[in-house]
Amino acid sequence: MKVALFGQTGQVGVALLEGCPKVQWICADRNRAGGDLREPEKVYQWLLDTRPDAIVNAAAFTAVDRVPENYDEAMTVNARAPAAMARAAKALGAYFIHLSTDYVFDGSGVKPWEPGDKVCPINAYGKTKAEAEKRIAEETDFFTILRLSWLHAPGHVNFVTSFCKRLQTQSEVSVVDDQWGSPTAAEDVAPVIERLLQNFQNQCPVIGIVHFANVGFCSRYECACEIVDQLQKLGVSWSQGKRVLRAKTSDFPAMEPRPCNCRLSTAEFTKKLSFTPRSWQEALRETLTQYD
Ligand SMILES: NC(=O)c1ccc[n+]([C@@H]2O[C@H](COP(=O)([O-])OP(=O)(O)OC[C@H]3O[C@@H](n4cnc5c(N)ncnc54)[C@H](OP(=O)(O)O)[C@@H]3O)[C@@H](O)[C@H]2O)c1
Repeated sequence: MKVALFGQTGQVGVALLEGCPKVQWICADRNRAGGDLREPEKVYQWLLDTRPDAIVNAAAFTAVDRVPENYDEAMTVNARAPAAMARAAKALGAYFIHLSTDYVFDGSGVKPWEPGDKVCPINAYGKTKAEAEKRIAEETDFFTILRLSWLHAPGHVNFVTSFCKRLQTQSEVSVVDDQWGSPTAAEDVAPVIERLLQNFQNQCPVIGIVHFANVGFCSRYECACEIVDQLQKLGVSWSQGKRVLRAKTSDFPAMEPRPCNCRLSTAEFTKKLSFTPRSWQEALRETLTQYD
């Protein structure tokens, strides 16, 4: 099975190439026509020329705070290009897996979001991702939108590595305690996508929107405390004697708004794919053991 992959250098993209070597991945070169998502028509043409059986889109403009000043570019990369991929998938009879985010929700309440809940993004990044979901469904019926939460992977910029960087130079680090979600290892997303591709190959594809995250919920503050605890147990010298302080999202008014409730319900995912993810603490430990 030939699978076109976009975003091969990102957290999930790298995890896919390393974790699913049996899949015949074809990646467009970002510096050539068809590989730059700022040019959706060229992406479309590259797909028609390449004729994959399936398409996985792990690429996105993910720098949340930079989206407002680059809104048109982010909308092209995050929504217009995925719509072009969906259109190509339809033309080829190919299956399309697109990655989306908890940030399509407004973050209200405390209940985990179900895949069918109403999307209502509160920041510009979320708006581009919600727009993608809508456009993809308009272009093709043969898709899976996999919504993910708080991704981390060693060697990439994310909450976990950014916090570790601050911890190395500060004795006290403030972290918000009013944003809730599930830290999720990019490495754990790879077998999920592989399973989705297998289901497609076995002619029982999972169609529609699915939520995936490591099991359990925490606040960013609780996640930071867990990081310090695990680093100390691993004997990492720069974590010793450090303190995590509680802060509020409103303490950082210059940043783009962040949804407070990012809990994703994975019940439907577990049922449809017969797959129980590991806990967020276990997955976090693996990222931390590879942190340098
Ligand atoms: N990070 C999170 O916490 C999180 C949470 C929930 C959902 N998600 C979603 O999950 C997916 C994967 O996220 P991630 O964290 O793995 O992303 P990431 O590490 O930020 O990687 C983004 C990828 O997109 C590529 N890309 C960006 N602009 C591009 C363009 N114009 N043309 C071609 N490629 C371009 C990047 O290429 P370069 O390396 O060349 O820039 C990189 O390969 C995204 O859809 C994201 O929205 C992420």
